[in-house]
Amino acid sequence: MTTLARGTIAVLGATGRLGGATARHLLEDGWSVRAITRKPDGPKARALAAAGAQVVKADMEDPAALRKAFEGAQGVFNVQNPMKSGLEAEVRQGRNVADAAADAGARHVVYGSAGVGRSGTGVGQWESKLRVKEHMLTRGLPLTVLRPMALMELMTDKDFYPALSTWNTMPALAGPDTKIVWLAADDLGAIAAKAFADRDGFVGRDVALASDVRSIAECRELYRAAAGRPPRSFPVPVWMFERMAGKDLTAMWRWLRTAELDLDVTPTLAIHPGAMTVERWLLRRFSKDGGARTAEARDARAAARLTTSTPIAQERPSDHPPA
Ligand SMILES: NC(=O)c1ccc[n+]([C@@H]2O[C@H](COP(=O)([O-])OP(=O)(O)OC[C@H]3O[C@@H](n4cnc5c(N)ncnc54)[C@H](OP(=O)(O)O)[C@@H]3O)[C@@H](O)[C@H]2O)c1
Repeated sequence: MTTLARGTIAVLGATGRLGGATARHLLEDGWSVRAITRKPDGPKARALAAAGAQVVKADMEDPAALRKAFEGAQGVFNVQNPMKSGLEAEVRQGRNVADAAADAGARHVVYGSAGVGRSGTGVGQWESKLRVKEHMLTRGLPLTVLRPMALMELMTDKDFYPALSTWNTMPALAGPDTKIVWLAADDLGAIAAKAFADRDGFVGRDVALASDVRSIAECRELYRAAAGRPPRSFPVPVWMFERMAGKDLTAMWRWLRTAELDLDVTPTLAIHPGAMTVERWLLRRFSKDGGARTAEARDARAAARLTTSTPIAQERPSDHPPA
């Protein structure tokens, strides 16, 4: 294994789930971390600074700020969030990061991607990532793509409205017994740090990441065992969900119903043998983080404003908007 001397890695999305996990693991492994954020005075940025990161303000819409932020960095962790920015902004920002990384002479870019890694699924946020990847390759960047399918945080994090999405609309469209491949955000961070530590072993790789294969019905039982109660689930018609969250997630979940997924966890465990199963992740989450319950209570209040009294088991004609 050829290792780069532990220099500086610029981490996009460092205040978020994937970038945050990557920043934490890089710091633990002895790297200098340049944590990129639009809000350097925010609580997450301050926590990163307290953990030893150099916090730098830059917006991914601002190529000049990115170029400055990457000066002297030997690696870059690239990630965007299309659920917040929209798909075209995701591609634009991903390409801006790629251009700035190339201009700065970055020796390794690790990309937080998603999905199946091929086009034709009709899932916008998977297709957009292929466009970003293509641009990074066109710019000649030494690239590693890390590609999880479903983050375990979907089951609990309030950003994802799990009571509406993961426990209701997703199984209604994908099927409650359809096997889903899961990875915890923290394990993606650990794997990204391993990739930066083993440049020669990882440049050129596009790795599907999964540490467990479970249906939503199985996850529900594991959740019940870990939390001591079933997850809250709020039925909402599909058209109403789409009005709130757009049509990309529902396209993804419909696609999953009949898709033939790669269900092999072996490659991920070969890279990171400690990657968590859904059961272990839920047990850890509920044993140490009573806050998850508080977050769910907030979800419940948000969801209550959108619910109807009709449970959804399958997609039905009434799931489409009224004429
Ligand atoms: N949900 C899933 O199951 C799943 C599965 C696989 C892959 N993914 C992929 O994971 C990615 C989302 O990652 P995540 O969950 O880590 O997102 P996240 O928690 O929302 O974090 C995104 C971070 O990006 C930063 N950011 C946003 N806009 C920015 C801008 N214009 N300039 C600079 N920074 C900006 C934000 O930092 P500041 O606000 O501090 O600037 C934020 O901390 C998506 O691409 C998604 O498709 C998700």
